[in-house]
Parts: sequence; structure tokens; C-alpha cells
Amino acid sequence: PVIYVLNGPNLNMLGTREPEIYGTTTLDDIAGMLEDRALELGLEIDMRQSNHEGHLVDWIQEANASGAKAVIINPGAYTHTSIALHDAIKGVTIPVIEVHLSNPHAREAFRHVSFVGQAAKGSIMGFGAQSYMLALDAAARL
Ligand code: DQA
Repeated sequence: PVIYVLNGPNLNMLGTREPEIYGTTTLDDIAGMLEDRALELGLEIDMRQSNHEGHLVDWIQEANASGAKAVIINPGAYTHTSIALHDAIKGVTIPVIEVHLSNPHAREAFRHVSFVGQAAKGSIMGFGAQSYMLALDAAARL
């Protein structure tokens, strides 16, 4: 079974981007950790990143059409703006899990609304790179 792990804008900059908030772990580091854990769980990871909203919409649709088991998504700032992502998640039957490195609820008010979270199966946030690992474990149990 395949799990899509989708990453939105600026997450390609992890490691050097605001390390006091997001840590020094890179997206490649996270991909490696997820792949090791996926192997143990008998799952396959398809990890992607884009700075473009429409790519994320396309990949949610693709995950659903291709028979993937679940989507894990860190939508970055599109979390707080994207009705297109909300609608994409609502429009498919595959379970979608929202993840964040930081805890948006403990940050600026403009991060307190999540259009993605309002459509997702569930959300994991605030645990740094471990948020992704927890999401993978949750996906494995679905
Ligand atoms: C983030 C939180 C968002 O508010 C922010 O725009 C990001 C990263 C996180 O993983 O903590 O780009 O999704």
C-alpha cells in the first residue's frame, strides 16, 4: 500500500528556514525517516513537495485515483488560505491527514484557521519532524 506525503510551499527550505520554529531537520531527512518506518509497517511512501497550490490539488486527486491508502499533507501556508485544497479533500474518498511541524494554534491569529483541517480525517501538529511519523502510524492503522 502506498501513502502519499505531500508538502506545500517553503517546505523545500526546511533546515535553514526559521530554524527556531521549524528546526534544522531537512525535508530529505524527514523522507528518510518516513521511508525507514514505512518499511517496518509494510508501506510505501511517495513523498513530494511543491510551492504551487494546483500541484497539491492534482496530487490529492492522483492519490485517490491511483488507489493509494492515504494522503499525509503539510500544506504550509495554504493551510490557512486554500478553499481549493479543502474542496479537493472533500471531493475524494481517500483519507487525508493534516500535519504541521509547529503548532499553528500557538502562533499568529492568521494561522488559527485551517481550511485543510476542516476537511481532513484528522490533524497532527506541534511535534516537529515527529508529526510526520505520528501521521504515518495513524495512516497505517486506518
Ligand atoms: C506549517 C505551519 C504553517 O502555518 C506555515 O505557513 C508553514 C509550515 C508547519 O508545518 O508548521 O509553512 O505548515
